[in-house]
Amino acid sequence: MPFAKLTTLGVGGLCQWLFEPTTEAEAQSFVRECAKEGLPYRILGGGSNLVVLSDIALPVLRLALPKVPQREGTRLTAPASHGHIALAEAAAKAGLSGLEFASGIPGSLGGAIRMNAGAYGREWIDVLATYRFLTPEGELIEKRPEPGEFKYRWSWMTGGRIVLSATAQLAEGDSVRITAQVAEYREKRGTSQPLSKRNAGCIFKNPSSTSAGRLIDQAGLKGLRIGDAEVSPEHANFLVNHGKATASEFAELMETVRAKVREIHGVDLEPEVEIWK
Ligand code: EPU
Repeated sequence: MPFAKLTTLGVGGLCQWLFEPTTEAEAQSFVRECAKEGLPYRILGGGSNLVVLSDIALPVLRLALPKVPQREGTRLTAPASHGHIALAEAAAKAGLSGLEFASGIPGSLGGAIRMNAGAYGREWIDVLATYRFLTPEGELIEKRPEPGEFKYRWSWMTGGRIVLSATAQLAEGDSVRITAQVAEYREKRGTSQPLSKRNAGCIFKNPSSTSAGRLIDQAGLKGLRIGDAEVSPEHANFLVNHGKATASEFAELMETVRAKVREIHGVDLEPEVEIWK
């Protein structure tokens, strides 16, 4: 299947082996089989934070677990393949506060945990009570997060570890107030980010002292276009696909932005998105 269909950005080559386990046990057998063969694999979530630059011949696992969140008191548990925005909406509807920040972040819950996704000063580690994952050997572990496991847009869920589910510790809240906060965040996002164009969210991490978007903007790069790939005129840290952008156009645009920012600001931007090649 083409990565154009598997990612929100819509570039990349072919995904040659896509495995979609519908149970945790199936995912576990997949991992054990790969471990036995010494075969590396990739893990795909909602494809909303991913830039694919070539065909991918390695097996790709995308969980397709039943999407039913479970509530226990003020805790909400969902499988990793649950839609991230849908989960935030389910929490709001249930009058549970704490996931408002997540309401505009696309992708899957597993991807959000993997990236410790965040917005508006909040991130997953602020609400994460426990999570379940598979080790690269196929062992299933459930644990509470510990220091060092989750940082800004990073977690240790790399190297073949697969998030299976996560439990958020939320708080009783007023549905109307939560929904109003969600609407306010959505409005902010809608006016500052190019959501009507295919994109992969913010492309570079924010350096500790400032916003990558501001640096790219100040370097005068908004509107810089290579083929159908463009530095968004709305938010400079979004590179958008106007429809037919190719992987090499994207790679070139990312490199150009990085080089210009290095030249002008002396800052080496680090990709925030996952890059597969
Ligand atoms: N700015 C510019 N020009 C631009 C973009 C931004 O001058 O083209 C300025 C803004 O005016 C503002 C500052 O930079 O003063 C920060 O901008 P914004 O509020 O848009 O936040 P950001 O730092 O660019 C971060 C996250 C976003 C998240 C927003 C809102 C990263 C890399 N980005 O963006 O996350 O939605 O805050 O909380 O951490 C993502 O992870 O994919 C993502 C989009």
